[in-house]
Amino acid sequence: MWNKLRAHHAKVADRRFETLVDGHRAADFVAQTGDMRFDYAKTNIDAEGRAQLIDLAEQTGVAAKRDAMFNGAAINETEGRAVLHTALRNLDGGPVMVDGADVMPDVLDTLARMERFADDVREGRFTGQGGKITDVVNIGIGGSDLGPAMAVQAMAPYHDGPRCHFVSNVDPADIAGVLRSCDPATTLVIVASKTFTTIETMTNARTAQAWMGGSVSDTGAQFAALSTAAEKTADFGIDPSRVFGFEDWVGGRYSMWGPIGLSLMMAIGPDAFRAFLRGGQAMDRHFQAAEWQDNLPVMLALVGIWHNQICGYATRAVLPYDNCLNRLPAYLQQLEMESNGKGVSMDGADLPLNSGPVVWGEPGTNGQHAFYQLIHQGTRVIPCEFLVAARGHEDDLHHQHQLLVANCLAQSEALMRGRSLDEARTKIAGKFDGDELERQARHRVFSGNRPSTTLAYPQLTPEVLGQIIALYEHRVFVEGVILGINSYDQWGVELGKELATALQPIVEGKQELSGKDGATAALVGFLQSHGVS
Ligand code: F6P
Repeated sequence: MWNKLRAHHAKVADRRFETLVDGHRAADFVAQTGDMRFDYAKTNIDAEGRAQLIDLAEQTGVAAKRDAMFNGAAINETEGRAVLHTALRNLDGGPVMVDGADVMPDVLDTLARMERFADDVREGRFTGQGGKITDVVNIGIGGSDLGPAMAVQAMAPYHDGPRCHFVSNVDPADIAGVLRSCDPATTLVIVASKTFTTIETMTNARTAQAWMGGSVSDTGAQFAALSTAAEKTADFGIDPSRVFGFEDWVGGRYSMWGPIGLSLMMAIGPDAFRAFLRGGQAMDRHFQAAEWQDNLPVMLALVGIWHNQICGYATRAVLPYDNCLNRLPAYLQQLEMESNGKGVSMDGADLPLNSGPVVWGEPGTNGQHAFYQLIHQGTRVIPCEFLVAARGHEDDLHHQHQLLVANCLAQSEALMRGRSLDEARTKIAGKFDGDELERQARHRVFSGNRPSTTLAYPQLTPEVLGQIIALYEHRVFVEGVILGINSYDQWGVELGKELATALQPIVEGKQELSGKDGATAALVGFLQSHGVS
């Protein structure tokens, strides 16, 4: 399977894919669901390559694994857990069974409790000691931060609730900066942690508690918790009425659809939050029903596999021409790299292929004036993933949106077409001649033949955001199945956590440094001599 694809790649690698692009290809090399369109015409994938990629999906059992996931099987094999974030957005679907019990009644009950609480806060029935809640501070990290932080920004045009802030880093600069802008008497602190043990989150939560205690008598009353660990939230002193629980079959980086999304619900209100869930559910149904070639998550994944595992492009740039999706690249870094950055396959054998790509990016047009130089003329090929809406939310500034769209389309065209030496010479012929013309022209050559895809949609509404996020989640799933890895554990974050715990008393000067390598010891020594202990 893989060899066949590699052989096909070797055959077509040197051709200019621009020559493939005609009206037929432009209509054929797209996948669409409703108004959302994924266009991969500007890649070197042809009909034969696509057929082989689809074969790969079939032979690696994507369909059976997909059904197993939706049906609550324990596909997270290293942790013995089901993977059911889809149940959190299964608003009007049927029962979802885990170990013989339907989880939907609990899911819907928790959603209803979140909605009542969000409404109470937004409408001033739930107050702080100083009156109506003006600020919500979400304290969490990783999946307990990136999803809601990204979504609150993405949904700025719909934000009509209290101001929302996000504290994630244990660096005191993070929490100090946020708390400076809040009044403890009218702030609600949400402690978001699946495990309720994460050191950064628990440290920040205690800092917030101390900050509030300076002017609020019952600090516990202005705290809520989002967690699977009910006992630990009680130990922290948070009343069960403000604890919103979920189960271990929701992975941290897949958790924004449930309680971890509470800050988003506070910002945009329960109705818009439901629209976000409906968008996710619509993408689930599409993923379950559409033929492979028309299936957005599958085609996104197959294009990803082609570029990374077959062509060997190590990174992928995510470039939203949608400023509200500012944090999407950061969110995707966790979703994709924590999920598919694995070195062994499900059975523990070494992975015979590259694991998932490095994902990075910035919104357009900002990136154009920063790193696009390297994307266009650097020596490595970086597949680009553009996202663009037909309309923004600023009707009176639509001319600016049109300029944004023109830039997005221009970039994928430039990456594909490039500019030949002849064209470069012609462009500057009036300014230079002779050897200098030659030298200057060479600096203005664009190799082109650089692949990109475009995800286009009418407008970034809550429903469309839900579709986009579910689309990326399922893309990660499909890539993981094809690579034969477990996308739902994250053992790679553990070693650093253990070593940090051991180093803490040394850094604090409470324990002698011993058993450390010379380089770490030298750095500890330097930092101690400058005041860390
Ligand atoms: O350290 C990685 C991680 O476990 C992520 O997977 C998770 O999203 C994050 O830490 C936060 O975990 P928690 O929600 O349990 O605080």
